[in-house]
Amino acid sequence: MLTLQDQFKQDGYLVLADFNSEASCDLLMKRAQELAAGYNYEGHASIFQTNEQTRTSDDYFLASGDKISYFFEKDAFTESGELKGDLFHSLNKIGHALHDLDPIFNQFSRSPQLIKLAGDLGLNGYVLIQSMMIFKHARIGGKVDIHQDASFLYTEPTSCIGFWFALEDATIENGCLWAKPGGHKTPLRDWFKRKNGGGTEMISLHNAPFEPAEMIPLEVKKGTCIVLDGLLPHFSMPNTSGRSRQAYSIHTIDKNCRYPEENWLHCDRAALKGFV
Ligand code: FE2
Repeated sequence: MLTLQDQFKQDGYLVLADFNSEASCDLLMKRAQELAAGYNYEGHASIFQTNEQTRTSDDYFLASGDKISYFFEKDAFTESGELKGDLFHSLNKIGHALHDLDPIFNQFSRSPQLIKLAGDLGLNGYVLIQSMMIFKHARIGGKVDIHQDASFLYTEPTSCIGFWFALEDATIENGCLWAKPGGHKTPLRDWFKRKNGGGTEMISLHNAPFEPAEMIPLEVKKGTCIVLDGLLPHFSMPNTSGRSRQAYSIHTIDKNCRYPEENWLHCDRAALKGFV
């Protein structure tokens, strides 16, 4: 009988059903909706509507590491820069410091069962560095291309581990995660980093193919926690269904590993906290 830690080392991911109660999932979705309702989009509208959209949205993104910031689906706007639908249903995600800045998200991110899981996986010295509320709204929720999370939270050596919480049932139709068991035993392909002179770039570290044909859908029920090794390639399809696929994710790194300044996410690393 494999321990959880052995299973995780073997497959590069874990699927833990009934990890969070339905009530705690509902509370988090309600809180996200409240945050979105309080978002002063008009005050930020210029970020998304100027001719310099790429640069200004890059700046907004690069400053979001220690804030609660709001990101839209790419098809949310008309050509003239107006929102096609209501604000909430136009959002792709909220990030990236919900776990530290919002009490409800903080509580969810440091639940007793998560503290126990981190202990079972031997994650001593790990700190929470990023969180995202991902909406994947019905019909507009876009695809997420194949990637490894360690590309976005690069450390030396690689240490990134993600926790992905299904707040609603995730199915093939509404855009569940896909991954290949054991796929984490392959090198880190890319590094998403700050570019000299501003902006960001994805640089190639290794050209091994991702082999999407060997990936399987991880269809899970509301309340499930999926633990993801930072090297595990994964992706999700667009949501073509009439139901949203809301999820919350947090990412952790070993605070003793080197974290280059060129990483996109900047925060006060000395202040980063663990699960307790
Ligand atoms: Fe990911």
